Amino acid sequence: MKRYILAIDQGTTSTRAILFDKNGQVVKKSQQRIPQYYPHPGWVEQDVNEIWNSVLAVISECLGKSGITASEIAGIGITNQRETTVVWDKKTGQPIYSAIVWQSKQTTSLTEKWRNQGYATLFYERTGLVLDAYFSASKLCWILDHVEGAREKAKRGELLFGTIDTWLLWKLTDGEVHATDYTNASRTMLFNINEGKWDDEILRRLDIPKSLLPEVHDNAHIFGYTAPHHFYEQKIPISGMAGDQQASLFGHGMLEPGMLKSTYGTGAFIMMNTGLERIYSRCGLLTTIAYVLDGEIHYALEGSVFIAGSAIQWLKDNLEILADAKVSEEEARKVKDTNGVYIVPSFTGLGTPYWNEKVRGSIFGLTRGTKKEHLIRATLESIAYQTRDVIDAMNHEAQLPLSILRVDGGAANNNLLLQFQANILGLNVERAPIFETTALGVAYFAGLAVGFWNNIEEIKQLNSTGRIFKSNMQEEEREKLYRGWKKAIEATIQFSE
Ligand code: G3P
Repeated sequence: MKRYILAIDQGTTSTRAILFDKNGQVVKKSQQRIPQYYPHPGWVEQDVNEIWNSVLAVISECLGKSGITASEIAGIGITNQRETTVVWDKKTGQPIYSAIVWQSKQTTSLTEKWRNQGYATLFYERTGLVLDAYFSASKLCWILDHVEGAREKAKRGELLFGTIDTWLLWKLTDGEVHATDYTNASRTMLFNINEGKWDDEILRRLDIPKSLLPEVHDNAHIFGYTAPHHFYEQKIPISGMAGDQQASLFGHGMLEPGMLKSTYGTGAFIMMNTGLERIYSRCGLLTTIAYVLDGEIHYALEGSVFIAGSAIQWLKDNLEILADAKVSEEEARKVKDTNGVYIVPSFTGLGTPYWNEKVRGSIFGLTRGTKKEHLIRATLESIAYQTRDVIDAMNHEAQLPLSILRVDGGAANNNLLLQFQANILGLNVERAPIFETTALGVAYFAGLAVGFWNNIEEIKQLNSTGRIFKSNMQEEEREKLYRGWKKAIEATIQFSE
């Protein structure tokens, strides 16, 4: 009997396998951290085969621990760190270069060249994205330009490109299927989100052969079947795929226009469902595909904050003032406020709404009395300030009434952060009752495609509410604090010019 959906969540810092039952409850999960490599300042890369092996390891551990057999799995969903780029040889199956991670800045000279060539408007109008090294297009071109013979091989149709979903699908199907879904495609900066297809003009200008690119399908779709030797001699349908932030939006049940979620992971990704309407942003938000079901494209506005949870990691690993990310709340509570300290953790540039690839991080307001706890508290608050920057822009652009911000991700465990988030927004913040919303979202897609769940209405019934943090800060205080943040941002940008 098919009683479970298996979700594979391949994130920036770890890979997870999670089994869900029909009530959308986690039955078992398994997790493995994956290494990051920093070959030069600003570069972030991963070993493509290490990513694949981590997926095999977590699947085997998860099934082993649960005692559930592969034959009980109705479908598999893959969700992933988006934009991270892989190019591999079609025949040998070997990657021709490491995975260039979404955070990596090794392609900024290329994006600058494109900006000078006047491509920014074309990219924005066609793909909804701001011209930045964050997206896959410049990473793909960089690999084609830097690996000897790659462009020629690509022209001869000998190479394949994919984001991590595509790579894992190709591996799980033993090279049978080269495909992606609309949400991942919409993050490459090569995909026309109005027409729902790869954009011929962009491909021509960047000299990218179409044969490199995967086929694009709805989120709930049978993409292929597992090769039996990879999956306990079973051919299981891989029936759902989605970029992790879009999967999280779906997992949160944010299915109506104006619904809003933020995931505090490595970065913070704030996404607002805008329904069937594609909203053009004038203040640095990304327009992206939220999900596609039955061929109908639903759009979202997104604000991408590059550094959130990883700033807490920086306090621990680099400054060594925090023993563990888990105690950040306890440490921050030892002081009543930041004592005027602001930290702008723009270690890899600034994303929405500033889009500055060159800016570095900064600290303001130090005094002889500044203690490590002030720095910890200021780092937590920086996550909330960056989130407000994005939500203010969304309010301005979409003008849809906002009632609540739903949050998930590691740092959403931190009550102090969530209370400050509610205070600085003047908006209720609700913590997702289940933390694995990203995996749950793609499990829903996978389940819908194989009839495990019959329709969206059935899925909506599974949603429950979590703890709500209500704003308890006076307007005057809120705006005073936020003005301080804006001054810190302005000075940070000026310093980097
Ligand atoms: O756009 C990058 C994003 O998808 C990465 O998410 O959860 O791996 O930090 P995460």
